[in-house]
Amino acid sequence: MTTKLWDGRFAEKTDELVEKFTSSIDIDKNLYSYDIQGSIAHCKMLAKQLIISDKEAEQIIKGLLEIKEEIESGNFKYNDKLEDIHMHIEARLIEKIGETAKKLHTARSRNDQVVLDVRIYLKEKTAFIIEDIIKLQKALVKFAKEHVNTIMPGYTHMQRAQPVLFAHHIMAYYEMFGRDIERFQDSLKRTDVMPLGAAALAGTTYPIDRDYTAELLNFSNVSSNSIDTVADRDFIIEFLSCASICMIHLSRISEEFILWSGAEFGFIELPDAFTTGSSIMPQKKNPDICELVRGKTGRVFGDLICMLTVMKGLPLAYDRDMQEDKEPLFDAVNTLSLCIKIYTNMLPKIKVNKDMMKKAASVGFLNATDLADYLASKGMPFRTAHNCAGKAVSYALKNKKELDQLTLEELQSFSSLIKKDVFEALELEQMIEKRISDGSTSYKNVFYAIDSAGKKNEKEQNE
Ligand code: ARG
Repeated sequence: MTTKLWDGRFAEKTDELVEKFTSSIDIDKNLYSYDIQGSIAHCKMLAKQLIISDKEAEQIIKGLLEIKEEIESGNFKYNDKLEDIHMHIEARLIEKIGETAKKLHTARSRNDQVVLDVRIYLKEKTAFIIEDIIKLQKALVKFAKEHVNTIMPGYTHMQRAQPVLFAHHIMAYYEMFGRDIERFQDSLKRTDVMPLGAAALAGTTYPIDRDYTAELLNFSNVSSNSIDTVADRDFIIEFLSCASICMIHLSRISEEFILWSGAEFGFIELPDAFTTGSSIMPQKKNPDICELVRGKTGRVFGDLICMLTVMKGLPLAYDRDMQEDKEPLFDAVNTLSLCIKIYTNMLPKIKVNKDMMKKAASVGFLNATDLADYLASKGMPFRTAHNCAGKAVSYALKNKKELDQLTLEELQSFSSLIKKDVFEALELEQMIEKRISDGSTSYKNVFYAIDSAGKKNEKEQNE
């Protein structure tokens, strides 16, 4: 069937190019199962409210389920003339069961129907994404646990700063993804709102039961204002914001892995299965997967900017501009899901070069703060101690030595407070051990962080 369902008042045929231009079927056909689910619930509600008969409802539901099968088996024909998935399904239903099918759209408009479909879709996808992030967190905790004795240089301004446990660095990402989970959970509250019943914008004259529809579709809330209901795409923008922040985190870890896997760092080796070769340089093992995750972050930001721009300045209520919401949303959902999964699978296979990390942490005066702390612990005010340690660094630099390679006499020339025990304070392990403030890099703190993270994720997955 190719006749339009809205052509009653039109005398002229739609221009062919316009048909192509207005059609969104290539994109929104992905919503078919949610559309059918929504229509079945709507139909049941219409029957319960005696707006249609039980027999009619039965016929409609049977037809809708058959259409679902046709779509899933690849036997469904799409046509630009029918614009979108809602029209395709309705037109096919009319073809299959005749006049009764035309009752399905009672007390409903495509404006509330489309946003219902997107909300069901996004509720499902957000829940999947949260589950996937929990899995990624578990992989991070395992990775940290396996390398709990590895010391690396910690950086600020991309300059070696102070030694930290590699596990501590990895657990920083655990925290970042934890915040992502909270953000998605929070956005979910505003996605979980049932819009059907707003109809075109003003509501409907039929005695519908919106709570019943919400119950059938497992929605926690029913929308309030019918105009807002069809005009609102905030929940999509919120999801895209959460997705963008999550992509930032994936992009930052990607950037670090790219740097660390290069010869200049040599901290890690990425697994063969997650790297690619060069078509000209036989020796190359490229971190393309990390690079692509970093690159795809741009796509997801683009999806967010796209939706922000589409919505900016739109008068209430529904405007066709909003049809442009699905492509960026689907793109962000698919991109983010894939990037999270790739990282979860890649992490356990990454080899860590403990010696290279330790070597890097031993060179470059990463113990200068500890020398200052040592002096402060002997009674020197910290600012003075900082200055004194700075002078020692400058002296060591000139003499091409590390602080712990200076003799006791050399060190004492900067302060008579310096005693033999200074060498202990300048040792890597000691520097880690002494970072005792809550949340710092001491072994004890990091073990604790790993342990409580493990327990938390265990609990979350059992919920
Ligand atoms: N395909 C449309 C969309 O995605 C469905 C709603 C169309 N409503 C309308 N009044 N033309 O937004």
